[in-house]
Amino acid sequence: MTKTALITGATGGIGRAFTAELHRRGYQVIITGRSTEKLTELSQTVTGGAAQIVAADLATPEGIGTLVDVIRSNPLDILVNNAGFGTHGSFAELDLQRELEQATVNMTALLTATHQALRSMTARRTGAILNIASVAGFQPLPYMATYGASKAFVDKFSLAVGAEARTSGVLVTSVNPGPVDTQFFDVVGSDAVNIGRALSPEQVVASAMTAVDKRRSRVVVPRAFHAVEAITRVLPASLMARAASIVSGR
Ligand SMILES: NC(=O)c1ccc[n+]([C@@H]2O[C@H](COP(=O)([O-])OP(=O)(O)OC[C@H]3O[C@@H](n4cnc5c(N)ncnc54)[C@H](OP(=O)(O)O)[C@@H]3O)[C@@H](O)[C@H]2O)c1
Repeated sequence: MTKTALITGATGGIGRAFTAELHRRGYQVIITGRSTEKLTELSQTVTGGAAQIVAADLATPEGIGTLVDVIRSNPLDILVNNAGFGTHGSFAELDLQRELEQATVNMTALLTATHQALRSMTARRTGAILNIASVAGFQPLPYMATYGASKAFVDKFSLAVGAEARTSGVLVTSVNPGPVDTQFFDVVGSDAVNIGRALSPEQVVASAMTAVDKRRSRVVVPRAFHAVEAITRVLPASLMARAASIVSGR
């Protein structure tokens, strides 16, 4: 029987690579983003028109409702909660509406989709949920405060829910990439935290899919960021915040 995968943020760099890989693996893919035009191009170019398109703005309750309806009516084998964006600047000076939208896309939409998918997957005792976090969540991140905190939420939330789901046959994996070569930093409007050599989206997807194949609950890619995380565990969080601001405040 054909398996089904849904990818949010499919029109971006990492989402496009997930779409290509899951289509290559024989999944019926459902792709979401805000633009029907971009989704149509993606479906045509990457899946030969086979992908099912769902346009939804995940910063809105209506868009999240649309996503829930799609998950409810399509029993998923894989859900990739990938849609997300960041902002850069001093929190008090950033547009509050945009920060709230960021929190909604990065956390509320992911939480809601995970809830809906997990119920269905648990009942069928099969499935995997990949939640895209970030190394940006490893420490408090001044000047990207909402983004860093949202990704820390994704990581901790996914690990906790994954531990609950362990005996149900459902895998929940937290994927934590370092900088990736996508439009992400253009949307952020700053290169401040674009540190080190950027990964390709395909490298992120390869690591994430290896985790699915090997039933791993957490991915950090590249692995060198494990060392960064180890340092954040030793130093006081307040000191880490000040140290991080030297990089992120540029
Ligand atoms: N690039 C990096 O360095 C990096 C590192 C670690 C983690 N990540 C995470 O990886 C994920 C994918 O990012 P990317 O690097 O591929 O960036 P990207 O190319 O900018 O893609 C972002 C995706 O999110 C979607 N999106 C943004 N706002 C949305 C909204 N309101 N409603 C629905 N969809 C929305 C975009 O869709 P439309 O704009 O077409 O609607 C797009 O498909 C994000 O969660 C990001 O935080 C990225």
